[in-house]
Amino acid sequence: MQNRFFDILEKDYNIKLNNQQKDAVMHKDGPALILAVPGGGKTTVLICRTANLIKNYGVNPENILSITFSKASAWTWKIDLRQFLKIYQRQE
Ligand SMILES: Nc1ncnc2c1ncn2[C@@H]1O[C@H](COP(=O)(O)OP(=O)(O)OP(=O)(O)O)[C@@H](O)[C@H]1O
Ligand SMILES: [Mg+2]
Repeated sequence: MQNRFFDILEKDYNIKLNNQQKDAVMHKDGPALILAVPGGGKTTVLICRTANLIKNYGVNPENILSITFSKASAWTWKIDLRQFLKIYQRQE
């Protein structure tokens, strides 16, 4: 299930997550702290992790709280996640 998820990321998004990113994306329960340099792929991980919780663990999106620093990043976050879930849906 997880491998297929990462395959889709690679094929449709050209995002080849590294092993640390994959670990963080697969993290399900409890808190996780993600530290990386600017542009190091943190937001990508959080969006993929959110999609993973919804699609692979059936978590109700209404129970997921995502907070961003600016309105602009909230907007791109929403677009990215929607886009991702749509593509993932199509392949099921
Ligand atoms: N493993 C990866 N392989 C290739 N590209 C990646 C990978 N992870 C992230 N990217 C790309 O790198 C760019 C920066 O990623 P992202 O925005 O997730 O980083 P960030 O750590 O959140 O940045 P910032 O510090 O500016 O918030 C994006 O274009 C993203 O698609
Ligand atoms: Mg970011």
